[in-house]
Amino acid sequence: MLINNDTIIKDDDELIRRKSVDVSLPLSQEDRDTLMQMYKYVDDSTIEEIAEKENLRPAVGISAIQIGIPKKMTAIIIKDEEGNKVCQYALVNPKIISNSLEKACLASGEGCLSVVQNHEGLVYRSARVKVKAYDALQDKDILIKADGYLAIVLQHELDHFKGILFYDHIDKKDPFREEKDALVID
Ligand code: NI
Repeated sequence: MLINNDTIIKDDDELIRRKSVDVSLPLSQEDRDTLMQMYKYVDDSTIEEIAEKENLRPAVGISAIQIGIPKKMTAIIIKDEEGNKVCQYALVNPKIISNSLEKACLASGEGCLSVVQNHEGLVYRSARVKVKAYDALQDKDILIKADGYLAIVLQHELDHFKGILFYDHIDKKDPFREEKDALVID
């Protein structure tokens, strides 16, 4: 399957709103291959020469519904400024098991491979989440205790399983509304 900026499902396709289902474990070879291709997309997308050549839009995460597969799988790679991986996951059936009452948002708002148009505004999410999942990179069940940027990315990706896009969370009347006590992540 070719994953690039032309094949990724955009929000003008109602498939992006479809709910994803649990993946059966042990992971089938087909599901593993799909997930590893998603992982490779995210990895390659932040390497400029490859991204340019293969028409990849830079991303930190992608969920299976974005390539038209309504299954609970997501790949996430966060890199530092030198391009070293700070964290990497290929998650199957990730589930938020607890979340903080404290909120956080990214100062510059969010983006998404499935969203072409600009949607300015703040997306408030939980500042911390605990996520249980099967990680295909480590081939085991894991518990992620996330805060900061990773917590935001996880919630963004898991929203895709419910057909929710980041801009659904933006206050239409007051997009840059400041929420008291919320963390703003630069
Ligand atoms: Ni997205």
